[in-house]
Amino acid sequence: FPVSPARAAGGSPLVIAHRGASAYAPENTLAAVDRAAGLGIRWVENDVQRTRDGELVVLHDDNLRRTTDVEEVYPDRAPWKVKDFTAAEIARLDAGSWFAPAYAGARVPTLEQFVNRVEHHHQKLLLEIKNPELYPGIERQTLKVLGNEGWLDRSHLAGRLIVQSFSADSVRTVHELKPAVKTGFLGTPPVADLPVYAGFADQINPSYGSLSAAYTSSVQAFTGPHGRPLEVLTWTVDDAATAQRVAGYGVDGIITNKPDVVREAVGG
Ligand code: G3P
Ligand code: CA
Repeated sequence: FPVSPARAAGGSPLVIAHRGASAYAPENTLAAVDRAAGLGIRWVENDVQRTRDGELVVLHDDNLRRTTDVEEVYPDRAPWKVKDFTAAEIARLDAGSWFAPAYAGARVPTLEQFVNRVEHHHQKLLLEIKNPELYPGIERQTLKVLGNEGWLDRSHLAGRLIVQSFSADSVRTVHELKPAVKTGFLGTPPVADLPVYAGFADQINPSYGSLSAAYTSSVQAFTGPHGRPLEVLTWTVDDAATAQRVAGYGVDGIITNKPDVVREAVGG
């Protein structure tokens, strides 16, 4: 299938809600997806990892301490790694109170729950495979869940799904397993190495601190695996001045905890 460009020619960069609208609701929860939808934001980013019993869940850190009450619920289970807990154990945790009392009772969602909430709002998903070195086979499993939930049909593949990772091996694996999926590499590879990345990644997605206008246009001069110019999404931009600066570089999208602030600054 052809993949669609992230932004229309000459248009504003996409605005992507980082871990959901995570400045306003607990990150990577269904509430953060809902908050992004409430703001009218079409793209949501998340982080996918795996439990001890093989369930894919949405959480950023490799351990549960910062964003849940795991230390209270399971005081003797240090260092509280995601991979050491079963899905049922994680489902008991409160993933909202750390953020604000109003979110008490929010849960760590499974990937299935997360994509279904994104679908419910007719949103689009930038899915990050997080720490893939800890989870052998997570690429195939992620694609299986996406397929089971209807996310690998023509409309999703054409313009509603991007899978990204800091691991080039993981991105390449996703591309090889399912070439129709649009992919992104998180990082800032040297321009000399971009021909290699362009073999398996449709996007190069750098931290804004490592980005320049020259680097952005160098990336966009390459053609990706789907025959389109490579795209650039940058992260994590939460203020208007920086958003306007990177928009001026010509980035295709901006990943932000404050999608309302960025949209106000750059349009879109
Ligand atoms: O989507 C890009 C960004 O999420 C990468 O950094 O640490 O927030 O996953 P991190
Ligand atoms: Ca992420």
